[in-house]
Formats: sequence, C-alpha cells, structure tokens
Amino acid sequence: MSVPTIKLNNGVQIPAIGLGTWQSQPAEVVAAVAYALKEAGYKHIDCAWGYNNEKEVGEGIRQSGVPRSEIFITSKVWGTYHSRVEEALDETLANIGTDYLDLYLIHWPIALNPKGNHPAFPTLPNGLRDVDHSWKLSDTWKQMEALVKKGKVKSIGISNFSVKKMEEILPSAEIIPAVNQLELHPYNPQHELLAYCRSKGIVPQAYSPLGSTNSPLLADDVVLKIAQKHSLQASDVLLGWLVVHDIVALPKSVTPSRIASNLTGTIAAIGKLDKEDIAELDGLAASGKQKRFIMPPWPVDLGFDNWTAPMPQPTAA
Ligand SMILES: NC(=O)c1ccc[n+]([C@@H]2O[C@H](COP(=O)([O-])OP(=O)(O)OC[C@H]3O[C@@H](n4cnc5c(N)ncnc54)[C@H](OP(=O)(O)O)[C@@H]3O)[C@@H](O)[C@H]2O)c1
Repeated sequence: MSVPTIKLNNGVQIPAIGLGTWQSQPAEVVAAVAYALKEAGYKHIDCAWGYNNEKEVGEGIRQSGVPRSEIFITSKVWGTYHSRVEEALDETLANIGTDYLDLYLIHWPIALNPKGNHPAFPTLPNGLRDVDHSWKLSDTWKQMEALVKKGKVKSIGISNFSVKKMEEILPSAEIIPAVNQLELHPYNPQHELLAYCRSKGIVPQAYSPLGSTNSPLLADDVVLKIAQKHSLQASDVLLGWLVVHDIVALPKSVTPSRIASNLTGTIAAIGKLDKEDIAELDGLAASGKQKRFIMPPWPVDLGFDNWTAPMPQPTAA
C-alpha cells in the first residue's frame, strides 16, 4: 500500500499518516510499532523523549525488520533540554538505536529549569512548573539548526507554537521550520494559525487527530453522518479530513485493528469525502463545538485561541 506524502519546504517528502506513541505503554508500544511497520504499511513514527518509551519504540522498529531508510522517524526536544539540544538528541538517538532523525521538533515553546527538582517536570516550591522565563526560543532554534548542519537530523520543526511564539524565532531563523505540530481536529481546526503557517511554508501536523483519549469526536453526529454516507468509520472521516487539507495526521493506537484501519481508512476517506463533507467538518467548531483537549498546566500564556484551561496559580508555601 502506498502512503500519501506531503512535501516539506526543504523538498523532503513526509508520509502524511504517522503512528503516534504518546501514552503508549512501554510494554505495548514494541508490538504496536512492529505491527504498524511490518503488517500495516506505516512508514512514519512520531516519538518524543518526553513519552518515556523511545527505547521500546526502537525495539519495535528493529523487530519490524523494515530498513531504517524506509522509515520516517520524528522526535522532540523536551523543555529541560532547551539549553542542551544536542545532548537531548543524542539521548534520543541512543534510545531509538539510530544515528539520525528524519525530523526533530521543539516539543513546547517553553524552557524548563535544567537543574530543577525533576528531570522532566521541575516545579517551584509554590507548585508551579519551573519555567526559565528569561530563555530565548531563538537560542533553542539556533541549536536545532546546528543539528541539520551536522547531518544528525534531516529536517527541523516546532510543536505547540502559536503565531506569537513563531514570531520569537522566525526573524532570526536561518532555516524555516518544516512543520508545526499542533492539536488539530474538527473541534479545534485553528484555521487562522494554519493560514499563517502556510504563508511561511510551514506544514501543519495534527496531534490528537481523533480527539485523544475517550474522544467525543468519534461519536459526533455530523462525523457519524458523513461516515455512514460513505461506509466509513468516524475515525476514517476525521483522519481523511486532515490529509485532504495537506495536514500530516498522527493517530495513536496500540490496537492492531485500529492501527491498520487508521491507515487504510484514511486512504479510503481521501477518495470519498466530497466538498460538502469537508465544508461541514471545517465549520464544526464554529457551529458551537470548539474544544481543545490538550492543555497542560504551563504557567505561561502560549498565545493560542481557545485555550480554556485557567492559568495555574501558585499555592501558598
Ligand atoms: N506535540 C505534542 O505536544 C503532542 C501532544 C499530544 C499528542 N502528540 C502526538 O500525537 C499522537 C496522537 O495524539 P493522541 O495520542 O493524543 O490522540 P489520538 O491519536 O487522537 O487518539 C488516541 C486514542 O484514540 C484511540 N483510537 C485510536 N484509533 C482509534 C480508532 N480507529 N477508533 C477508535 N479509537 C481509536 C486510542 O486507543 P488505543 O491505543 O487503545 O487503540 C487512544 O485512546 C500522540 O500519540 C503523539 O505522538 C503530540
């Protein structure tokens, strides 16, 4: 089966559907990755140092027997490593068992104290996450660019960057980010942010494309109506809608039947969704269903629309 691809601003073709691995338990993800690559036909795995399962993802890749050159591997630098990006990459490469990444992203536009009280989630005595508010994101980006020049990563990008955050790195960037990985689905389509990304040549990638764990999107009446019309599953409609818009979709599953159908169903949906369906899905959030699911308690205004979670407040010491 041939997986559709999208061309990045450096000419690299990225497979438009990739397997997500967040919250995939180490014990499950080996088999999930091996199955996705060997049986289901995936060519693209989305990982992160912060998911605590990169070693097992690497084991799944090895067990699949698929040559490294046929797989597109993405990982992400975590906040506690913004001042030592190459060190983070080296850990990730060792974890996965490879000597290069196809794509490396800044996971969140937030630098965390590298010498804090926890390697990933340092906190202050007042309970708030220990953010280095003085750190410049443009300095993180310079280190990302150096990794391309060294040949350790083929493409670099960002994740969870609003327009406000992109404007902190773009003026001094030598390499324009290839992608911006964002929460994207019909309840959180972020049309204006995507238009900005496209005006800069940045390809959007959709995380939580199904609405993440226990998603109400899979039971949405409009999504189900469109699915029924074309004899598709709700998940096929959600993923197909993204790829039709040239957005890379990253569905996570550890269930073989879902891993398989998230690829075959997307390809089927691309050929079946019509203009009317797409317009209806495009307008779902504006019709009153806007909802963002992933809103970690960062004590920082990231500059996103519809971030409805309250800003975390310090607790009395
Ligand atoms: N950059 C970031 O900050 C960021 C944030 C969040 C996510 N991500 C990336 O994006 C990936 C996807 O996002 P996500 O994991 O939040 O959510 P998701 O892919 O939208 O949804 C995953 C959930 O849907 C279930 N599922 C998968 N396929 C299904 C199907 N065909 N029918 C019904 N249920 C299905 C999965 O269950 P089972 O696994 O039990 O089958 C799991 O509970 C992540 O894994 C990660 O790689 C990145």
